[in-house]
Amino acid sequence: MPAVRDALVAGTRNFRPEDIRKVVEIGNSSLTEYYTDTLLLDLYEAWPNSFIVYTVNERIVGFIVGSKFSRTEARILLLAVDANFRRKGVGMALMNNFVEVCNRENLLSVRLEVRTDNDQAIGFYKAFGFSVISVIRAYYSDASDAYLMWKLL
Ligand SMILES: CC(C)(COP(=O)(O)OP(=O)(O)OC[C@H]1O[C@@H](n2cnc3c(N)ncnc32)[C@H](O)[C@@H]1OP(=O)(O)O)[C@@H](O)C(=O)NCCC(=O)NCCS
Repeated sequence: MPAVRDALVAGTRNFRPEDIRKVVEIGNSSLTEYYTDTLLLDLYEAWPNSFIVYTVNERIVGFIVGSKFSRTEARILLLAVDANFRRKGVGMALMNNFVEVCNRENLLSVRLEVRTDNDQAIGFYKAFGFSVISVIRAYYSDASDAYLMWKLL
C-alpha cells in the first residue's frame, strides 16, 4: 500500500481570499496583462462562485474567474495553469467546473477574449467547443488584437 505522504490529492475547489498570492503569481507568470491582488479580489467579490482554483496536494496550480456579461451570458475573464502543470487536464477541469456554476445559475452562454496569437489558448478553447465570433482590434494594452470566442452552454 502506498504511504499516505505519497498520495496525490488533486481537484477543483472555490477560491479563498488567502489564496490570492499564489493566484496572482500564476496569473502574472502566465498572462500578458498585469494583475494586482486588489483587482482579483474585486472580481472574487463580484461573483465568488465563478472563482475556482485547481490544487495538487493543496498547492494551487491553476485558476479561472469570470463575470456576468448579461442576465444570460457569462464571460471568462482569466484562466491560467502553472506552466509545469499544463496539458494534464487542469484547464479542462477548471472549465468544466465553471460551466457547472453557469448551469446552476441559469446562464445560457459564455464568451471570452483571447489574443489572436495565443495558439495554445485558442486550441484549448476550440477543444472545449468555443468558436471565434469576431476580431476586436487593439483590445490589449499593447494594442494587440483579440478574438471574441463564444459557446452555447
Ligand atoms: C490555455 C491553458 C489554460 C490550458 O490549460 P491546460 O491545463 O494545459 O489544458 P488541458 O490540459 O486541460 O487541455 C485540454 C485540451 O485543450 C487542448 N489544448 C491544450 N493546450 C493546447 C495547446 N498548447 N495547443 C493546442 N491545443 C491545446 C487539447 O485538445 C487538450 O487536450 P489533450 O491534451 O488531450 O490534447 C494553459 O495553456 C495556460 O495557462 N496558458 C497560458 C495562459 C493563457 O493563455 N490563458 C488563456 C488566456 S485567454
